[in-house]
Amino acid sequence: MKKLLSVLMACAMIAVLVACGNGNATKQAESAAPVAEQTAATKLRVGISMPTKSLERWNRDGEYLKKEFEAKGYQVDLTYSDNKITQQVNDIEGLLANNVNLLVIAAIDGDSLTQVLKDAKDRNIPVISYDRLIMNTDAISYYVSFDNYTVGKLQGEFVEQALDLKNTDKKYNIEFTAGDPADNNAGFFFNGAFDVLKPYIEKGTLVVPSGQTEFEKVATAQWSTPTAMNRMQNLLASYYAGGTQLDVALCSNDSTALGVTQAIESDYAGSNSVIITGQDGDEANLKNIIDGKQTMTVYKAVANEAIATLDLGEALLKGEKPDGSLINNSKWSFDCAYDTSSYNNGTGIIPSYLLVPTVVTKDNIQKELVDTGYYKMENGYPKAN
Ligand code: BGC
Repeated sequence: MKKLLSVLMACAMIAVLVACGNGNATKQAESAAPVAEQTAATKLRVGISMPTKSLERWNRDGEYLKKEFEAKGYQVDLTYSDNKITQQVNDIEGLLANNVNLLVIAAIDGDSLTQVLKDAKDRNIPVISYDRLIMNTDAISYYVSFDNYTVGKLQGEFVEQALDLKNTDKKYNIEFTAGDPADNNAGFFFNGAFDVLKPYIEKGTLVVPSGQTEFEKVATAQWSTPTAMNRMQNLLASYYAGGTQLDVALCSNDSTALGVTQAIESDYAGSNSVIITGQDGDEANLKNIIDGKQTMTVYKAVANEAIATLDLGEALLKGEKPDGSLINNSKWSFDCAYDTSSYNNGTGIIPSYLLVPTVVTKDNIQKELVDTGYYKMENGYPKAN
């Protein structure tokens, strides 16, 4: 069956001039035609399942992925599941019913796709776990993401440097806001930051007035902005009402940072500017960075994540078993590591292509985001291109 499918796929990639398998291929079409020459009848289908449009980055991911695959002649079915787990299962079933040849999935809940992906595996459809690791299924072939632990580490190091924690005996107050426990990335981000800051908490240089330092306590379901805002309002009322100064709000990403910033603006009595971290480069957060309300974000160039996914996807569609050599062979203009040790999804290690995140502050927005072409400046603020 596997063999038959790969033969069918290979046939589909040969120009329409060639009658598949008749042995009379013209010289011109003896080798597989570039995928761009796929015709409507032979086009391979790629199913892309994104979590939600309500978190900004996934809109960009969906668009970039669609653009990349379509430019190479694939037919693309792109779904968004409104952050609803059952809807994502239904959407993926729909993609399978549409006979997609490849699935690219960013899961809402990493643990909820085991059954639907069994169906994909039974049909020999390769599945790329996109950005978020899908857990407890052996149906996924590869994982493409950024180095998630490093994202958190960069946030922690930013705070360490901003407060000169290595060289000070002063005490600073910090609160943590992490991501969705259903998203495998969230723990990596939190641990990356916490591992940098933990020695200072132990030493007493960093104090957490709420005492909330465990991931489960500081997590934010669905990465929701209002949930993060409500929690921070509660923290401010409970622990900062008597004039205690909040120095740092370590937020794992921009959607949570947005809520935390709103809470600080409305409910914080202090007059100091609180260091607020984030991740993604969402437009509202970049505006806040320029306006001095958020201090930094960790930018992940999802345009490059889409390119890595395209090249990996094409290799899988050709029946190859890509490894680290894909990186050099693809001649990407961005850095990427091939990792075969960090991401175990419960069925074993999933080979991963991990891109490199960048710290963005007011000082380097122009250089990192605008000069690179990812954003353009409009009325003084960056808008994604
Ligand atoms: C992504 C982050 C994003 C978060 C919420 C995570 O899985 O890696 O970039 O901020 O989901 O959308």
